[in-house]
Amino acid sequence: MADPNSRTGVKYSTPEIQTFADQTHAPHDAALERAFRAPDQHDMPAIQLGVSESRLLTLLMQLIAAKKVVEIGTLAGYSALRLARGLAPGGKVWTFEIEPSYAQIARDNIAAAGFTSSTIEVRLAPALQGLTEIEAHGPFDAVFIDADKAGYPEYARWAKQHLRRGGLLIGDNSYYFGQLLDADGPEAARMREFHAYVSEHFDSVCIPTPDGMVLAIVP
Ligand code: DHB
Ligand code: MG
Repeated sequence: MADPNSRTGVKYSTPEIQTFADQTHAPHDAALERAFRAPDQHDMPAIQLGVSESRLLTLLMQLIAAKKVVEIGTLAGYSALRLARGLAPGGKVWTFEIEPSYAQIARDNIAAAGFTSSTIEVRLAPALQGLTEIEAHGPFDAVFIDADKAGYPEYARWAKQHLRRGGLLIGDNSYYFGQLLDADGPEAARMREFHAYVSEHFDSVCIPTPDGMVLAIVP
């Protein structure tokens, strides 16, 4: 690790290469473009997943033939659409959002993409509260965490309890915006706790996306 003679970790991506890769493998149709561009149209932060990272969600759902998926942090529904497009027939995404205006924007984007709430259900609730209300639908095939960073350890514990064997835990922003190793700051410590918990209880990796994306399987 950190061998100065290894080229591992050298960053070959450029904005142009990334755009090429996005457009080649992960192009937007009108519905994805609408959800992705929602922060330009509404009062919401532009913190949606990247184009290729969200496409990875679709492929991961396809790989495991996902039918029951939980998302924590809906925003405008862009990643929920990517998840839903990888579902097996009859599958469903439950997605939790705490901000009412974002939940409504997401519902509109999801409807515009042709999904009903029987395939993508946006639930307006703090996740830890709302998750208890869907537990009876479990065990789940995948849990995607992309919400308040201090909540990640609790969300991971819930995922471990309610995922099936072989089920996936996915966590965005796992480098915590470059602050992961900061000694002070309660959120960084919580994010390190998330990494520790996941590495102990799952088969896991932190994929070196720009933000760091934890991918973990229930053993
Ligand atoms: C923030 C949150 C995210 O999930 C993200 O991907 C980027 C930024 C944030 O809260 O600033
Ligand atoms: Mg995120």
